[in-house]
Amino acid sequence: VTRAQVGENIEAGNSAWSFAGHTAEVFDTHVRRSVPMYEAGHDIVCGLSDFFVHDDSVVYELGVSTGELMAHLIRRHAHRPKVKWVGVDIEADMIRRAKERVGALDADASLVCADAVDYDLAPADMVVSYYFLQFIPPRYRQDVVNRIYHALTWGGAFVLFEKVRGPDARFQDILSLLYTDFKLANDYSPDEIVGKSRSLKGVLEPFSTEGNLGLLRRAGFEDIAPVFRHLCFEGVLAIK
Ligand SMILES: C[S@@+](CC[C@H](N)C(=O)[O-])C[C@H]1O[C@@H](n2cnc3c(N)ncnc32)[C@H](O)[C@@H]1O
Repeated sequence: VTRAQVGENIEAGNSAWSFAGHTAEVFDTHVRRSVPMYEAGHDIVCGLSDFFVHDDSVVYELGVSTGELMAHLIRRHAHRPKVKWVGVDIEADMIRRAKERVGALDADASLVCADAVDYDLAPADMVVSYYFLQFIPPRYRQDVVNRIYHALTWGGAFVLFEKVRGPDARFQDILSLLYTDFKLANDYSPDEIVGKSRSLKGVLEPFSTEGNLGLLRRAGFEDIAPVFRHLCFEGVLAIK
């Protein structure tokens, strides 16, 4: 089993990417260099939240990582002290960091270390999945979206950002080569880029835009609109 350096001194083996340990420590840097318009996407989620977060809302972020987006949301809604914020992540190292960041804010926030695959969601006005669902094994993914739909109140929002595959081989080729250019421009070495791609085999499994729309529609969502797109990175708003 070969292990490779994949950037930020993260070492990862073939098909063995992990968010634990050192990855969690350097995550904030690594994600900015790896996800185009990472911060701009956060701004869009925050903007959307104004339409769905009310004084007594429950809001979830699944795959909360180090809590950066959750902290932005909490600060934006500081005038609504009764909102209950819940961040869920499967990695204890991520939750520890998220607790440090979010705990410094004056808010009703819980950071929960749990597998979203069997985590029960309470009724909520907004659920955020910012580059999280793509890490849920396809055999559980529909069930997770079903439970999100079920938990949302009528008029509530599911904000879903995902890395997506192109609609056919030609588009997929173009998108993935341009994404490689993005990583090269951010000073990742060819070895790091290949090592990262190899580590994500079977771990990050992107669907196409149509594939994600299918997941949402089968769960029950009818009102769905795109809110962001940059190469193979896409955000949609689904309203129950
Ligand atoms: C790309 S990161 C999310 C980034 C984050 N939302 C942000 O805005 O910075 C994906 C996260 O999903 C978490 N994750 C992966 N599988 C999970 C699961 N089954 N249950 C809960 N969290 C999971 C990972 O530990 C990781 O922290």
